[in-house]
Amino acid sequence: MTLTDTRLHVHRIGGRIGAQISGVDLAAPLDGDTISAINTALLRHKALFFREQQLDDEAQVRFAASLGQLTTAHPTVPALAGSDHILAVDGGEGARANNWHTDVTFVLSPPKATTLRSLVVPEYGGDTLIANTATAYTDLPEPLRRLADGLQAVHSNDYDYIPHPQFGTEEAEQRREVFVSTRYQTVHPVVRVHPETGEPNLFIGGFAQQLIGLSRTESRDLLRLLQSYVTRPENVVRWRWAPGDLVLFDNRTTQHYAVDDYGDLPRRLHRVTVAGDVPVGLDGRPSYVVEGDAATHYTPTPQDA
Ligand SMILES: [Fe+2]
Repeated sequence: MTLTDTRLHVHRIGGRIGAQISGVDLAAPLDGDTISAINTALLRHKALFFREQQLDDEAQVRFAASLGQLTTAHPTVPALAGSDHILAVDGGEGARANNWHTDVTFVLSPPKATTLRSLVVPEYGGDTLIANTATAYTDLPEPLRRLADGLQAVHSNDYDYIPHPQFGTEEAEQRREVFVSTRYQTVHPVVRVHPETGEPNLFIGGFAQQLIGLSRTESRDLLRLLQSYVTRPENVVRWRWAPGDLVLFDNRTTQHYAVDDYGDLPRRLHRVTVAGDVPVGLDGRPSYVVEGDAATHYTPTPQDA
């Protein structure tokens, strides 16, 4: 598809998710039409890939801010020195995101969108997988879909964790302590209605711990079953990073996974997230906080957003 009202070109790279965007320099100030075309492409393709952008930190923050109000870097992990909004993703001990997740779902208002920019890319490996959770939902057989429609899940940052076997555990333990320094538990609908497209999707991922009204064992089994639809290859796009890439995904209807197959090679990305709203289920019930708070130091309150 080519949009004729701007120079932006959108090339689908997966049948169900993902498009590579060319014809735009994200470091330059973007006009309203271009921003709106990017938003439209994001809603349609859910993950957008921009090659050879060569943004610096300031330009990444500016681009992310053109899509909406920003969150701070993270609810518990400190921002990169000198910035309120940048989270360094460095693949160090205890920091490899090789589990399927949606970013920061343990707070009341998880981010709307995530931008990731590559600074250092390993010679091999370290790809990012991104899954379409809306097609995962429509893939569910009718009886499973009906069951999922009425479920709610507790999401927590105090999630199931084992130390990385490749590393010593001291730095990993310290990272873990910072990550859970405030414990958050938030209940979200298992089927979330996208606030802009109205499309329902399976809103679970790595921080989803337990289903309301079910035991831990039942929750684990059912979440694993639902999750198996998210990670089907048909619903997943795989991105091979090059230095200077900018990846943007709709965090309201995707999950992602950083493939941990690059040994001890360096890999460094900077992440900036755009603030989102409080999820709502098919029955209109919104998410609510069980433990922690609404994390307003991290993301604007719904009234401010
Ligand atoms: Fe992530």
